[in-house]
Amino acid sequence: MANIFRQMEGQESIFKDEKFLRPDYLPDEMPGREAQLKEIASYLQGAAKGKVPPSILLVGKPGTGKTSMAKLLLKQLAEVSSKPKPIYINCWENTSRFGILSRLITELGDMMPRRGIASDEVVERLAEIGRRGQVMPIIILDEVDRLLAQGSREDEILYDLSRAQEALGLRASVIAITNDEELPVKLDARVRSSLTNHTVHFAQYSPSQLKSILKERVKHAFWADAVDDDALGLCAAVGAKAGGDARLTIHLLWAAAKRAEVEGKKKLCVEHVQAVKERSLMHAKTPLERKEGALDELEKKIIDAIKEVGQGVSTEKIYEKLNVDSNSQRNIRHRLSKLEKAGLIEMVEAEGKNKVFKVSVKK
Ligand SMILES: Nc1ncnc2c1ncn2[C@@H]1O[C@H](COP(=O)(O)OP(=O)(O)OP(=O)(O)O)[C@@H](O)[C@H]1O
Ligand SMILES: [Mg+2]
Repeated sequence: MANIFRQMEGQESIFKDEKFLRPDYLPDEMPGREAQLKEIASYLQGAAKGKVPPSILLVGKPGTGKTSMAKLLLKQLAEVSSKPKPIYINCWENTSRFGILSRLITELGDMMPRRGIASDEVVERLAEIGRRGQVMPIIILDEVDRLLAQGSREDEILYDLSRAQEALGLRASVIAITNDEELPVKLDARVRSSLTNHTVHFAQYSPSQLKSILKERVKHAFWADAVDDDALGLCAAVGAKAGGDARLTIHLLWAAAKRAEVEGKKKLCVEHVQAVKERSLMHAKTPLERKEGALDELEKKIIDAIKEVGQGVSTEKIYEKLNVDSNSQRNIRHRLSKLEKAGLIEMVEAEGKNKVFKVSVKK
């Protein structure tokens, strides 16, 4: 039998370079985000001359370009000045206050003190390193809602950073990113104004904005004339209906192109988008699914229990399902409120029953 891989090698792909459609690709241009680009750049402008910029909060639904915008601006800032030091931290991966402080210290090129030392001392150490090195860290705290889980007090890190800045003289600022419109009211009063005075909103994309985003990608990812304009229009329309999410829309285009490729076609047409539309939307990850990887064992068990028993399950039923004694119930309650604060579940007090909640996984 002829070698299938040799045969395939000979076939010309519809893609010029698929990497431009990957979710982690950082675009140079962000169509539809000109206003946000200008606004954030105006806040950051002083940083190029060594002035500490204000802290900024970026708020918007999934796939609206917040993470990319923050990264793109810090990349451009680094091109014109070596003074600011961009540091990117995803709070779903670094969920503890101590973990984040450690990351900051190592990013600033110092050795992390051994565990067991009080966080307050670590903050002082951080400020000292900052002062000594004359660096100006600009810290992206992505998915910052994760830190607001009730009881955990991990959001103290926001206060730590403002204290390190104001009282201890660390020349740093924060770009915090969240999906949660309500985040400002959930913040501790000590950090609220410093973080929310410069809030930038990212609305869901319209069909025409999504089409412009796709057009820009198509130039790099495909050979000339490989994508029919109506196919792009359909992707954009589907993406806008499904939440104006650019991640999902780019994924749909990629999936449709794969389909065309499998069919041996040199052009991506409307029917390819039609053919993959349902599946592609179904497989688009919900915020929960994207974050699920970062949950700990107990949190995963709780989510699984809710999914198994069904939406609106009572807290009593969850304890039963997880087979916990009354001592451990407190721990579960604590996790539930963490998951609620992080926007992954919804809890409504059950009528007539004190402290019993109906719990659902957010879609
Ligand atoms: N205006 C845009 N132009 C080009 N690409 C974009 C634009 N907006 C978003 N994207 C792309 O869409 C995907 C999602 O964007 P991004 O990760 O920045 O969204 P987000 O707002 O941070 O979403 P989430 O809240 O889910 O983290 C990325 O692959 C990004 O490159
Ligand atoms: Mg993001």
